[in-house]
Amino acid sequence: MITTNPFTPQSGWEPKIFGGREEQVQHFLKTMEEAVLSRSNHMVIIGQWGIGKTSLLKQFKKISQEQGYLASFCPISQAKERSSTTAAVNLIMQEILNGFPKSITESKPAKQKLQSQVLFTQFLLELWPQLNTRLAVVLLDDVQNMATVSTVIDLLRAVLSKEEVISRTRFLFVLASTTEGWENFINKHDPIGRFFRRREMINDLTAAETQSVITNTLAGTGVSFDQEIIKTIYRYTQGHPYELQLLASHLFEAQLQGKVTMSEWLPAFKNTLRELGKDYFQSLFERASDREKEVLLVLAESKAALPQSEIRRIMIVEKHAKNFPVANIKNFLYRLHDKGLVKRLANGNFQILDPIFGEYVKSNYAD
Ligand SMILES: Nc1ncnc2c1ncn2[C@@H]1O[C@H](COP(=O)(O)OP(=O)(O)OP(=O)(O)O)[C@@H](O)[C@H]1O
Ligand SMILES: [Mg+2]
Repeated sequence: MITTNPFTPQSGWEPKIFGGREEQVQHFLKTMEEAVLSRSNHMVIIGQWGIGKTSLLKQFKKISQEQGYLASFCPISQAKERSSTTAAVNLIMQEILNGFPKSITESKPAKQKLQSQVLFTQFLLELWPQLNTRLAVVLLDDVQNMATVSTVIDLLRAVLSKEEVISRTRFLFVLASTTEGWENFINKHDPIGRFFRRREMINDLTAAETQSVITNTLAGTGVSFDQEIIKTIYRYTQGHPYELQLLASHLFEAQLQGKVTMSEWLPAFKNTLRELGKDYFQSLFERASDREKEVLLVLAESKAALPQSEIRRIMIVEKHAKNFPVANIKNFLYRLHDKGLVKRLANGNFQILDPIFGEYVKSNYAD
């Protein structure tokens, strides 16, 4: 018998098998231990779209509870009405209350007249004894969604460093943000950003982690993937969690008698590309100007990372781009990098974000 599809290709869907992230989990365990004994070093998780920020926070929640501590997972959604700091702080307080598995007396509306910082301090001080725990972990997901992100994070810093909060409560805050969102904030408030000292960048899974996520997710489903398939998934996704879940999910759907081989590759890959295009790549691609797109295509067509000089040579010699402002290639590359479309390696060479995105860029020129 073949079971239902075990892959979880959806933002916020916890994977059946949670791969990698051992370092972050170790750091989190250590941070909790320290927080119970003395004071908290609040953490922040940073990473690009679909890299697994939400799943990691949910994993942290499970780990906290396993240790016997209470944890509250608080998603910060994007909404206009949360444009003021007061509104954002109210939302955070509401989410914190909703996230704890306890019935807690809600703060009275009269208090809302207080200044946000005073309000939030009182909120934590009053909440703490009601929780009746040794440590309360607050997981704030997608903090970049707050319109007033810098003010709110600054407020959190101010409240969490107050002596009365440190001495009378044991809260550990873990924030998650997109790379861009956090960088915008850090650029404006460098010293405050440093307050969240435990900064964890999360990246793609390794080849071994990708392999183990796929084979363990398939265990017991009645379906197996050829080694060649697993290798090819890694080659195209480079271990990006969302991409690999989506691709593996389409491949699973294509099984014949419980087997998935390279004969099933192409249609599954095309479906994956179409969905990624719709959900994400299109908006990413549209960030590039027409000139930048021409440079991007050169990177998409190259298997390897390229130095600037080679990109310029290809433009002139191979593309015969007579009217192309080759003197500006450097600027185009840096802008593509800032917009998150290309990677810059340690040796200074440039590479397309990942091979699937490269295929998407090429397919835009194919028709
Ligand atoms: N450690 C992991 N191992 C395996 N799959 C994972 C892992 N982390 C996340 N995933 C899968 O990757 C996808 C994206 O995960 P998640 O929603 O947690 O990422 P995110 O960074 O919060 O994304 P977004 O930018 O959409 O908020 C989901 O399909 C999830 O099931
Ligand atoms: Mg998320």
